[in-house]
Amino acid sequence: MEFKDVMKKRRSTRRYTGQPVEKDKLMRVMELALRAPSSKNTRSTRLMAVTDLKRVHELGKLRDWGSSLLEEAGAAIIILGDESASPMWQTNATIMATCLQLALVDEGLASCWVHVGDYRTLQDDPESKRSEDYVKELFPEIPEGYRVWSVIAVGYADYTPKPLPEYEGPERILFVE
Ligand SMILES: Cc1cc2nc3c(=O)[nH]c(=O)nc-3n(C[C@H](O)[C@H](O)[C@H](O)COP(=O)(O)O)c2cc1C
Repeated sequence: MEFKDVMKKRRSTRRYTGQPVEKDKLMRVMELALRAPSSKNTRSTRLMAVTDLKRVHELGKLRDWGSSLLEEAGAAIIILGDESASPMWQTNATIMATCLQLALVDEGLASCWVHVGDYRTLQDDPESKRSEDYVKELFPEIPEGYRVWSVIAVGYADYTPKPLPEYEGPERILFVE
């Protein structure tokens, strides 16, 4: 797919067919995403693909809002960051996750970012379990010292999202000539 078509086709997709996602496709997109730039080339981000659907669906409870879409996903990719490797680990992780989402489009796959960061499992309860701790308890495989930044839900879309508007107007692009 041409790069401009990848950019135009990408949308956050929140309904999937439930079909599992093939491991070779996940491998290809992750290898591409690892080429993302990082501050001072610290390469602080790691990717953990989950194809065990039971555990993918369990991830859907990492928050009580905005994460249940994982219960239909065909795979998940957990975005991990080594905070000791770079003070920019969150930025590095964000850039890699974005590259990953674009690579998924090129493989004919849909995705949606599910944020973890500093969120809690219950939106209205600041004392509730941290979403990051929920994910770490579910995945003891997460290497020591790594933070959980987000989870990318992956799957085959069961609808065609509308493309983004072609051009939103001049207010978001400035030129100084
Ligand atoms: C940093 C970030 C966090 C996001 N967190 C969530 C989330 O937790 N749940 C969700 O359903 N969508 C999440 N999204 C997806 C946004 O809602 C989506 O990108 C936005 O509405 C624009 O839609 P589009 O991606 O289709 O262009 C997140 C996106 C970003 C970039």
